[in-house]
Amino acid sequence: MTRWSHWALVPLLPSLLVASPVSEQDDDTAKLNPRADNDYASPPFYPTPHGGWVSDWSDAYAKAYEVVSNMTLAEKVNLTTGTGYFMGPCVGQTGSAPRYGIPNICLQDSPLGIRETDHNTAFPAGITIGATFNKDLMYERGVAIGEEARGKGVNVQLGPVVGPLGRKPRGGRIWEGFGADPTLQAIGGAQTIKGMQSTGAIAALKHFIGNEQEMYRMSSIITKGYSSNIDDRTLHELYLWPFAEGVRAGVGSVMAAYNDVNSSACSQNSKLINDILKNELGFQGFIMTDWFGHYTGVGSALAGLDMAMPGEGAVPLLGDSYWGSELSRSVLNGSIPMDRLNDMVTRIVATWYKFGQDKDYPLPNFSSNTKDATGEIYPGALFSPTGVVNQFVNVEGDHNITARAVAREAITLLKNNDNILPIGRSDSIKIFGTDAGPNSGGLNSCSDQGCDNGVLTMGWGSGSANLPYLITPQEAIGNISSNATFYITDSFPSDVTASSEDTAIVFINADSGENYITVDGNPGDRIEAGLNAWHNGDDLVKDAANKFSNVVVVIHTVGPILMEEWIELDSVKAVLVAHLPGQEAGYSLTDVLFGDYSPSGHMPYTIPKSESDYPDSVSIINQPFGQIQDTFTEGLYVDYRHFLQANITPRYPFGHGLSYTTFNFSNPTLSVGTALDSTYPPARPSQGATPKYNDSIPNPAEVAWSSTSFTRIWRYLYPYLDDPQSITASSTYPYPVGYNTTQAPGVRAGGGQGGNPALFDTAFSVQIDVKNTGSRSGKAVVQLYVELPSSLGLDTPSLQLRQFEKTKELAPGDSETLTLDITRKDLSVWDVVVQDWKAPTNGDGVKLWIGNSVADLPILCSVGDGC
Ligand SMILES: *[C@@H]1O[C@H](CO)[C@@H](O)[C@H](O)[C@H]1NC(C)=O
Ligand SMILES: *[C@@H]1O[C@H](CO)[C@@H](O)[C@H](O)[C@H]1NC(C)=O
Ligand SMILES: *[C@@H]1O[C@H](CO)[C@@H](O)[C@H](O)[C@H]1NC(C)=O
Ligand SMILES: *[C@@H]1O[C@H](CO)[C@@H](O)[C@H](O)[C@H]1NC(C)=O
Ligand SMILES: *[C@@H]1O[C@H](CO)[C@@H](O)[C@H](O)[C@H]1NC(C)=O
Ligand SMILES: *[C@@H]1O[C@H](CO)[C@@H](O)[C@H](O)[C@H]1NC(C)=O
Ligand SMILES: *[C@@H]1O[C@H](CO)[C@@H](O)[C@H](O)[C@H]1NC(C)=O
Ligand SMILES: *[C@@H]1O[C@H](CO)[C@@H](O)[C@H](O)[C@H]1NC(C)=O
Ligand SMILES: *[C@@H]1O[C@H](CO)[C@@H](O)[C@H](O)[C@H]1NC(C)=O
Ligand SMILES: *[C@@H]1O[C@H](CO)[C@@H](O)[C@H](O)[C@H]1NC(C)=O
Ligand SMILES: *[C@@H]1O[C@H](CO)[C@@H](O)[C@H](O)[C@H]1NC(C)=O
Repeated sequence: MTRWSHWALVPLLPSLLVASPVSEQDDDTAKLNPRADNDYASPPFYPTPHGGWVSDWSDAYAKAYEVVSNMTLAEKVNLTTGTGYFMGPCVGQTGSAPRYGIPNICLQDSPLGIRETDHNTAFPAGITIGATFNKDLMYERGVAIGEEARGKGVNVQLGPVVGPLGRKPRGGRIWEGFGADPTLQAIGGAQTIKGMQSTGAIAALKHFIGNEQEMYRMSSIITKGYSSNIDDRTLHELYLWPFAEGVRAGVGSVMAAYNDVNSSACSQNSKLINDILKNELGFQGFIMTDWFGHYTGVGSALAGLDMAMPGEGAVPLLGDSYWGSELSRSVLNGSIPMDRLNDMVTRIVATWYKFGQDKDYPLPNFSSNTKDATGEIYPGALFSPTGVVNQFVNVEGDHNITARAVAREAITLLKNNDNILPIGRSDSIKIFGTDAGPNSGGLNSCSDQGCDNGVLTMGWGSGSANLPYLITPQEAIGNISSNATFYITDSFPSDVTASSEDTAIVFINADSGENYITVDGNPGDRIEAGLNAWHNGDDLVKDAANKFSNVVVVIHTVGPILMEEWIELDSVKAVLVAHLPGQEAGYSLTDVLFGDYSPSGHMPYTIPKSESDYPDSVSIINQPFGQIQDTFTEGLYVDYRHFLQANITPRYPFGHGLSYTTFNFSNPTLSVGTALDSTYPPARPSQGATPKYNDSIPNPAEVAWSSTSFTRIWRYLYPYLDDPQSITASSTYPYPVGYNTTQAPGVRAGGGQGGNPALFDTAFSVQIDVKNTGSRSGKAVVQLYVELPSSLGLDTPSLQLRQFEKTKELAPGDSETLTLDITRKDLSVWDVVVQDWKAPTNGDGVKLWIGNSVADLPILCSVGDGC
């Protein structure tokens, strides 16, 4: 999501004015219709399937029914629409329904911590937890984020991110997700959701879908946000995969992306929301817009949108909304069926009950608008009441332990010639680079971390959080080493003396972020920096390598970074990728550097030798005029899938990561679970009942201003109208092609949260013994890649990660047996004709490859032949 500070909005306003002011003509039905002139069109799907048919949610829906059936129109509209930008403590909040104890529901960033507050933990970013390949830590970090959200009174914490998937190596926000693979994203996302929601906080899985670059994602005065044109199979097998797993994990909310898919905006794309998310994936929660990603009133509601954030349409601060009072009007004039509004509200209220937020859930005790204790309660209003807005509640608990464990376990050792690492505490070390030190402007001195100054702990934008403190590598090394000299500069100092005993440690980084901030010429995406290190990092490494015979390179990076200028130099002995470590940057690094722990991170994406090794179709499209058509022509072949297909050897493959110790994988055994005795899964269960309401148009008096007695806040978004009695219902609305109000039977690929439950039966399990055969303690990651047989008749990537497990800390000589489960879906391709998942019957011809990276898979288990 986006959040601009007051001043930043001023220059942005003209670009947001592309949408005409809110009026009755605003519903652009053309956008909702299939486009015959485009190969990539989005077919209509109506109506929105009702929520409530999944048994896990029955109790919550029953509670919601009790209150929603008695709610007035004003109460219902309130819960669907934000109160406006800067109209409350959080980056977004809905109206309330005080009669039922439902407060203004608070929505707040970010995926790595509570944004725009204090006394919060700044956790390692998504890409960092992805690199740990540790499911327990993924869960634990989720719990900690959820506890902090709850402690601050945040109802809906806006994360995790599984889109962008990482299709574009220069994409500005690829670090917010877990890595460039759908299974890694899926497991990272699901574990995070389960952890967060175990605390009662509601997670928001985002951005749905195809939001793979930052530039031109939103509409502006000169062009419409880009269209991600994605074919059905690629959508299912790559981009939708982690969303399906997040829905299966029970995620309470989803955020629509800004961009179009197939020329229809994600927040009003009926195929995506009604058919794919709510029908096929069986999503029971609610879907909201991204901030100011709401483009129509009637159209978006019909297409399945449930909540508008932060309430206004494309133009903030004018007090206009496509919903709010216009939603009341649309119901009274008959354009939006009451049936749809009832479902919208029921989904929101059921989610609130599902996570127990009706019982002792704190109200917000912080303000994202100011750091002061007191301030304006509605800074977006011309005159706002003031009061205590920040209580500075400390929600950190002992989460620094989790944050440090994640940052440490993510550290990925790419190279370690002569076993130069670990370093002894009294070894002579010389440290170079501003990336080892603090932000020279001060902690959190750049709004939303919008600068690259000092150690890079996270990217920039709404996916960031304030650092409560920061342990820099400089501090941590200085405290541990008795023999360290620091040169915290980006140009190599001329006065350095080198001896053969010295080890030089060179810190470099590469940053990126969200589009509303430009850093060093990079408007989110790395258009200026490319995939090279920032601040002349390559020169710093080369200069150090010239002078010293032992060089260790430490890299903090948002994503793929080129190393070719120096990686093969003799003196560059070791490389550590520390990803984006958050507040515990220093000690997590020294834990590994000095050998208290062996590194156990693995690359969550490929390190290429050259950017030209990627397909052209994954470049950033920088085209200011005319809507960008970003067609995903590479299909399934992103990241390592592409490198394998094109037979290009990368510098370091996906999944690569060394240790200080060695492991032996032995005694693999393959066992059969639920037999794949049919090509397609067995028939889905039938759909359970959903709430049935009185769907008549309610009494207009329910939304009359005269029915209320409070002081109206200027620009605040209310559900009320001046003269609702004058509105008459009509059936003449220009409904989109394919519009229909009869609930359709569920699609065959659906049947439960995430899809047909049979897709998630374990089809095969591999057990394997992992032994620490070296002389230091450490953890091993076992990765399982699937090779599907050609009998499926479809061109499919030769290897696809489908499962991984990590050992506990193993002492030298110790062993652990790991079990890797493979589901029916893991062995399936999406059949676009049948519209179902198709697997090789009995798993015939399936090969399961096991090892340390996509390029190091020594163990093969073949269905039929065993391992
Ligand atoms: C987009 O268009 C492609 C090509 O026609 C089609 O396969 C796919 O299902 C469409 N997806 C959506 C969400 O409209
Ligand atoms: C339903 O609403 C009415 C007022 O509109 C109120 O008197 C009544 O108590 C409500 N019933 C329940 C069960 O909440
Ligand atoms: C709608 O929400 C506002 C707060 O945002 C609240 O003041 C008002 O009472 C609510 N309306 C009803 C009918 O509950
Ligand atoms: C009903 O109101 C909505 C919101 O103002 C408007 O977009 C729509 O065109 C109206 N429908 C009719 C039939 O007037
Ligand atoms: C703020 O936080 C405290 C401590 O977590 C909590 O008790 C309280 O309900 C929260 N909300 C408000 C408005 O004080
Ligand atoms: C976490 O913070 C506490 C309190 O500030 C401190 O005592 C502890 O050492 C920290 N733990 C780690 C692992 O940094
Ligand atoms: C620093 O390292 C050098 C080279 O190994 C050694 O000669 C010197 O004694 C060390 N100094 C300290 C304070 O450990
Ligand atoms: C330095 O390290 C010692 C021992 O590990 C630790 O107790 C101390 O807190 C550290 N000091 C700082 C300033 O981090
Ligand atoms: C791993 O262990 C097995 C069984 O103990 C042994 O046969 C094999 O040679 C070992 N492999 C390696 C690479 O050490
Ligand atoms: C349904 O709602 C309408 C409008 O409020 C009302 O007139 C009607 O009596 C209700 N029907 C039932 C069966 O409650
Ligand atoms: C509307 O949907 C129902 C249920 O799927 C279907 O039976 C009916 O044919 C559809 N009507 C139109 C006009 O498409």
